Amino acid sequence: MAAMAFETRETKNLSQIAPALLRWYDKNARALPWRVSPMARKQGVAPDPYKVWLSEIMLQQTTVATVAPRYEAFLDRWPTVGAMAAAKQDDVLGQWAGLGYYARARNLHKCAAVVAKDYGGVFPDAEDELRGLPGIGDYTAAAIAAIAFDKPAVVVDGNIERVVSRLFAIEAPLPKAKPEIKARATVIWPKKRSGDFAQSLMDLGAGVCKPKAPLCLLCPLADHCDAQAQCRTEEFPKKAPKNTKPTRQGAAFALMNRKGEMLFERRPEQGLLGGMFGLPGTAWAEEEITDALALAPANAKWRRVGDITHTFTHFHLTLDVFLAPAPKGFRRKAGQEWIAPKTARLPTVMKKAVELATTQAGDGK
Ligand code: ADE
Repeated sequence: MAAMAFETRETKNLSQIAPALLRWYDKNARALPWRVSPMARKQGVAPDPYKVWLSEIMLQQTTVATVAPRYEAFLDRWPTVGAMAAAKQDDVLGQWAGLGYYARARNLHKCAAVVAKDYGGVFPDAEDELRGLPGIGDYTAAAIAAIAFDKPAVVVDGNIERVVSRLFAIEAPLPKAKPEIKARATVIWPKKRSGDFAQSLMDLGAGVCKPKAPLCLLCPLADHCDAQAQCRTEEFPKKAPKNTKPTRQGAAFALMNRKGEMLFERRPEQGLLGGMFGLPGTAWAEEEITDALALAPANAKWRRVGDITHTFTHFHLTLDVFLAPAPKGFRRKAGQEWIAPKTARLPTVMKKAVELATTQAGDGK
């Protein structure tokens, strides 16, 4: 990126920021399952790039609290990148169920295969090379280079964005402010302990420099913080006004056989929830669907059992759920499978629909 110049408060000594934060991190680092503590790091324990990569992919759109137990389960099942590469894609998707953003799980498996095959099972340490791997974008490449290999890669996630935009009272709103935030972060980034520094910013953002009611009295950077000096901490990062999310509608059909199994079909590889199992259904559209039953997977005695709602990144969804016993002589099509609802590994939206249908099954036949 081209060098950017910005005015900085005369009083700010940029070279003191990293040492102050690292001192704080040495005492206050969160113990996280994928993390090598700063103490262990100093004693020479090197992070396992596979674990760093796995945790970073899982944390991309999911909170630390949700990821922690799921990360351990992944690691138990596939302790090395070679083990994950040898797994079936379906098993990786199944293990991912409920974590959302399923492209991540498909790319996880693809990336493991590339690292196992093209890199002999050893993750590359250069940010540029990491960025070329499936599922690894700018943020993740920098995070792995810094945390796994201590490269001075500048990592900017949501927490770091908030900390830096406050430190420098950046007036531009997000997402326009991103290049300025990156440039400011670059200026304070230390050459040594890059991985610890990235994680210290994350921890500061998560526990002290919180979005609401930040704990500035406990902040090791309070003396350096422009937003704090101006008593405007909560104003940053500024955000461009949001477009409100549209609501889409659709119908899902729960066809049940005599064994209590439901008919599922795999969603197309490309697109939302790609490759995951789901109930057959209509497309999801902003316009009302007037004749949903015409799109049902069987000519059966359909009963509407209610609706469920789910919110995705870009839209809210309301799904009408229909239930019917499979008619005599019904034959499933290619790509459809009968699965006991309890054993199906489903994305959350489909879990909700299946749960609603299951609780209604048996009533009012
Ligand atoms: N969020 C993303 N990566 C993280 C990490 N390594 N530690 C804490 N929070 C994170």
